[in-house]
Amino acid sequence: MSTQTGIIILAAGQGTRMRSHLPKVLHPLAGRPLLAHVIDTARACDPAGIIVVYGHGGEQVRSHFGDNDITWVEQREQLGTGHAVQQALQHLSRFEQALILYGDVPLLRAETCRRLLDVASQGEMAILTMILDEPHGYGRILRDDDQTVRAIREHRDASPEEASITEVNTGIMAVPAACLGDWLQCLDNDNSQREYYLTDIVELAVAEGVTVRAVVLDDPGEAMGVNDRIQLARLERAYQQRIAVKLMRSGVSLADPARIDVRGPLNCAADVAIDVGCVFEGEVDIGAGSRIGPNCMIRNSRIGENVEILAHCVIDGAVIGDHSRIGPFARLRPETELEGRAHVGNFVEIKKCRVGLRSKINHLSYVGDSIIGRDVNIGAGTITCNYDGANKHQTIIGDGAFIGSDTQLVAPVSIGDGATIGAGSTITSDAPPGKLTLSRSKQKTIENWKRPEKKG
Ligand code: UD1
Ligand code: CA
Repeated sequence: MSTQTGIIILAAGQGTRMRSHLPKVLHPLAGRPLLAHVIDTARACDPAGIIVVYGHGGEQVRSHFGDNDITWVEQREQLGTGHAVQQALQHLSRFEQALILYGDVPLLRAETCRRLLDVASQGEMAILTMILDEPHGYGRILRDDDQTVRAIREHRDASPEEASITEVNTGIMAVPAACLGDWLQCLDNDNSQREYYLTDIVELAVAEGVTVRAVVLDDPGEAMGVNDRIQLARLERAYQQRIAVKLMRSGVSLADPARIDVRGPLNCAADVAIDVGCVFEGEVDIGAGSRIGPNCMIRNSRIGENVEILAHCVIDGAVIGDHSRIGPFARLRPETELEGRAHVGNFVEIKKCRVGLRSKINHLSYVGDSIIGRDVNIGAGTITCNYDGANKHQTIIGDGAFIGSDTQLVAPVSIGDGATIGAGSTITSDAPPGKLTLSRSKQKTIENWKRPEKKG
């Protein structure tokens, strides 16, 4: 079917109820615009073309997606769904069948789209429907006694008897493109809303003897749209639930599948365990047997095998080697690379550093722009003074070095292999390997000194 399918995404609606300066279809779901999810689904159907009908906030929407495989057509005035599809009319002749999607219905599955397209490729029309206990506001599916679909009646135009029907139109449909082209030109706005209804093409199909097949959704959640922020939040949870189920099926333990947020590809090997309240952004890989403690934020990072990330860590753009232990309360910033078996403890910030095997930075330190060897011990409160107010400078620490607590390493500076730096030192020039270096004023004791006493 691929070469003849055109997909039209309707995204011109105003989204007034979002009460936002941002066009509705740019509001994020799992960190990406609603429309991006729909475009992904469209692409998964391998179509010959994707057409987005935009209107409200047009330039902002367009520029967000840049140059790509999408044809953008503008609907200047929002005169209804039929009018929206009419704007794409000139592009329809390239296709054999057209699938119509909504830019604010992000959870629809590609399999469902393919089911509709299969029908349209047989020369029939497919509409996606669902059964709702509370059908208020939706177009109702009118069927004949023999169950064949006869029409879609918009809620506001429905008789009380029609309004009691619980099978409703999701709005998603697939149609032979030539028919769609013809029918679009026959639409009028002779209805209660003075809109050009796309749904009116059902009656035109029936009149021409084209079969209209209703594909009924098992899970109406797939076709839920976003009209306000309450619905957006609901869809966000539904989407996260889907990801959580996928993760658990692939061998990941989640302490609570309702308390995880994944906003990008999260690739986990077997026996990864994730505690509650973690947020993943961008692409994150986690190796087998690694455990993520509660309330961690992890973005664009690669975590090896059997790594333990304790509670409340922020990890961004880092690579963490096997068997490392991070946190609690650690912050790893971009270009941090821990070779493996590293220990990074509480209140430690690391930026743009390579840290060798088995090295430890366990408490209250800032380490930036550094190359740290293997088996290094960095004492509590160590600071690499990497910034002189204008430029950044590098600190190099050799294998097996021991940096005493509360040391300032004023970069550029290098500490030799096996060197020991005495606690409390301010190191401003290179320290030789294998020796003790310290900079510390001599300790003295004042004999006969008395504490001042309170007067009166
Ligand atoms: C439409 C259907 C209704 C269905 C419902 C499902 C029609 C006439 N009615 O209702 O049967 O039950 O969807 O939610 O088709 N849009 C445009 N330009 C417009 C109007 C709409 O691009 O001029 C887009 C919107 O951005 C949205 C989609 O079309 O993505 C549906 O519009 P909306 O106003 O929500 O649908 P209804 O007309 O209420
Ligand atoms: Ca709607």
